[in-house]
Amino acid sequence: MYKLSANGHTITYHDSDPSGNGSSGKLPTLLLLHGFPLHSAVWNDVAERMTGKARVIRPNLRGFGTFTNDADFGMHELAADVRALVLTLDLPPLIIAGLSMGGYVALDYVRNWQEGVIGLGLVNTRSGADAPEAKPARDEMAATAKRRGTPTVVSAMHPRMLAPEAYEQRPAVSEALLRIMLDTPATTIARASRAMRDRDDYSQDLRSFDGPISIVAGEEDQIVPLAESRAMADAVSSARLDVLPHCGHMSPVESPAEVAVALSRLVDDSQKSTLLN
Ligand code: MLT
Repeated sequence: MYKLSANGHTITYHDSDPSGNGSSGKLPTLLLLHGFPLHSAVWNDVAERMTGKARVIRPNLRGFGTFTNDADFGMHELAADVRALVLTLDLPPLIIAGLSMGGYVALDYVRNWQEGVIGLGLVNTRSGADAPEAKPARDEMAATAKRRGTPTVVSAMHPRMLAPEAYEQRPAVSEALLRIMLDTPATTIARASRAMRDRDDYSQDLRSFDGPISIVAGEEDQIVPLAESRAMADAVSSARLDVLPHCGHMSPVESPAEVAVALSRLVDDSQKSTLLN
């Protein structure tokens, strides 16, 4: 785990290849953004599979994992932290992929700093804003986090994160995910719930993104239904959709090999399209 000071914070992150040189020359840079209520470890199994393919950088978002925070934030503040990390590390044009809430942050990033992004990965996520009828549940989650703490929120949410059969069939995956979720402070759960409630609609930003887009969906996602991922892919001609069978909302832990294949292809396509332009 590395850390640096930027944007008024101490940002913590994993970096698979701090020299950026790989063993066979310069590797493309892939930035992986985690979802809610998670941290960078949710990408461990994917990052491991991308060794030699990309320099993988996995920040903790503000308030999550080892990134301590004591102020409210919106999606834009999270994206601005990522931008500060990119500038401080002096990263070359990069590929950015986000899991669920990390996808909202990735879309905010490309809205503001598209010129430095050569490929976009959207994993178990959506480009639209919360519907008005979804907002009270965000308020309720924020209030529960404040009143009863992280374990109460996590025990309500954890059963919806994986494919329904995974809890019995893959207890190690379920337990590892639970441990990551329980690491999230209650204040961060409250702040992030409000931030997701108030996030913008990024559909236009997705449509105007000029580069390869990889959309990864879980066939059994209970949080972002497959139909929503299909509709998002249909709306963007440059997007490729991978639907992962027996997979819920947490594809990086449920189907890491398949996610690594999709992201490796995105890395290749992004490099090709940069050479062509
Ligand atoms: C996530 O996995 O990041 C969240 O479930 C996203 C959301 O609730 O909108």
